Amino acid sequence: MSSLDLFRMDDKVAVVTGGAKGIGMFYSAGLAEAGANVVVADVDPKAVSETSARLMEEHPGRILGVTIDVTKRETLEDMVKQIDARWGKINIVVNNAGLYATLQSRRSPWGIPDEEFDRVMAVNIRGIYACTEVCLPLMEKEGWGRVINIASGLAFKGSAGLAHYAATKGAVVNLTRSMAPALGPLGITVNALAPGGTESPTVLEARQARAAEAAAAGQPAPPAPGRGSGDGQPAQRRGGGGLGSAQRILDRTEVPEDLVGTLIYLSSPASDFVTGQTIVVDGGTYFN
Ligand SMILES: NC(=O)c1ccc[n+]([C@@H]2O[C@H](COP(=O)([O-])OP(=O)(O)OC[C@H]3O[C@@H](n4cnc5c(N)ncnc54)[C@H](O)[C@@H]3O)[C@@H](O)[C@H]2O)c1
Repeated sequence: MSSLDLFRMDDKVAVVTGGAKGIGMFYSAGLAEAGANVVVADVDPKAVSETSARLMEEHPGRILGVTIDVTKRETLEDMVKQIDARWGKINIVVNNAGLYATLQSRRSPWGIPDEEFDRVMAVNIRGIYACTEVCLPLMEKEGWGRVINIASGLAFKGSAGLAHYAATKGAVVNLTRSMAPALGPLGITVNALAPGGTESPTVLEARQARAAEAAAAGQPAPPAPGRGSGDGQPAQRRGGGGLGSAQRILDRTEVPEDLVGTLIYLSSPASDFVTGQTIVVDGGTYFN
């Protein structure tokens, strides 16, 4: 096997939750380009049908679009049935679905309604647990698998403006560490990918919508996710080896394409001996 073959995923079956929009759409496309059969699984049926139709044109016969809600187990079970009928196996699960772009950043940690708090927990953390558990029977028999949980740089920095969201991302790092020892003996690695504040299409749309609403009400634009450190505040480098500077080392906007290389690495045989880890991809904002 050549070193480039280490990154190929021919004949593998990859599930990408939240795979029809935002950054997830780039993960779906990247995995398909690397040879995988890709299940584009998302709560937005229109986006599922548009993204899977577009990817199907480029990768005929290798894309399956499924509408799911990661908080509803029966929809995940239905997805697994469809995958079983089509390919009979799952090799890679990318737990990317989350509530982020649509969340309103606040000026303090306080005042989050219980319902919103619980919903963010249910989607961002319980959804990862449920989706992985439901996919496991089709993964186990393969003896080789990958689970990639999407965390965030805010797992390490916290966020006054998005306290519930940041808490779920800290939990994603920890859940990754709990799953890895259980799945390692089955040949399945579990790692987390922590993006920094990334200008995904959904983040840009939400930011524009909020700015338009504020302008219509004669108010200044509210803080929005996806700027700087990802919580509406200027980026700040922190962590054990941090330099204390107030910006990223690589001083430019993070875009979805910046995340695809690490996602492919963690999904492919190239990362065979890596498990339980979290890789921060944020241009050098936080030193993990
Ligand atoms: N954009 C950023 O700055 C940033 C930074 C760090 C981490 N992240 C994480 O990356 C992931 C993608 O972020 P994004 O910028 O594309 O934001 P996003 O909010 O647009 O992405 C969420 C995706 O999940 C889907 N989704 C939402 N609820 C769902 C549910 N109940 N079931 C299934 N799918 C559901 C959405 O339709 C969407 O496709 C999220 O987990 C987010 O927390 C994003």
